[in-house]
Amino acid sequence: MGYISVAIDGPAGAGKSSVSKAAAKALGFTYIDTGAMYRSVALYAINNGIDIKNETAKLINRLDEIKISIKYTDEGQRIYLFDSDVSERIRKEDVSVGASDVAVIPEVRKKLVELQREMAKSANVIMDGRDICSYVLPNAQVKIFLTASSDSRAKRRYDELTEKGIECDLKKIKEDMEYRDKNDSMRAVAPLQKAEDAVLLDTTEMSFEESVEKVKELINNVL
Ligand code: DC
Repeated sequence: MGYISVAIDGPAGAGKSSVSKAAAKALGFTYIDTGAMYRSVALYAINNGIDIKNETAKLINRLDEIKISIKYTDEGQRIYLFDSDVSERIRKEDVSVGASDVAVIPEVRKKLVELQREMAKSANVIMDGRDICSYVLPNAQVKIFLTASSDSRAKRRYDELTEKGIECDLKKIKEDMEYRDKNDSMRAVAPLQKAEDAVLLDTTEMSFEESVEKVKELINNVL
């Protein structure tokens, strides 16, 4: 039998990555965080003084130089930009906003989607992002649109960052999230939207454990 692909899409802060990570661990699947890839491209632009919105051509010209890799360790997935472990740095708000801006660039999407499809060929995967169900893995056996109200998403992101010792401001997070929701949903290429054949999972009233159980149940149905 071939490998199983699980595709999970949804807006920022819906809990996709923590839920996907936990479900992947429980089922022995490989978790692939595609948002981290967009974040890494944004960090490259920031580090190299490239203004993402006004110097798009410059960024596109450098795309082939950018080396992003994911390494799996006992503590989970680590993201590398060239030889640097950027796993923590890419969670900061400047990179979050930058990631949403690089994600509108078709050339960036093309490069990252190729990488993502390649990764899904050799393992059972849970891949999360914005366009996974509809575009990256249209043949995934399980498709989920994971969402929650915008207030609870902002609060969860705030708690997550605070827990990691990252200083942040709830109001700013909510504003950035609204900017990203709009940007991600309105863009011309592969906008964030629920695929017709994806199961809607609204976790506003669900605990983290309940959300993980629900995702596991959906996956177990196809195993
Ligand atoms: O899931 P995240 O917050 O780490 O994603 C960061 C940004 O990357 C998000 O604002 C939109 C973009 N993104 C995307 O366009 N397509 C994906 N598959 C994943 C992320």
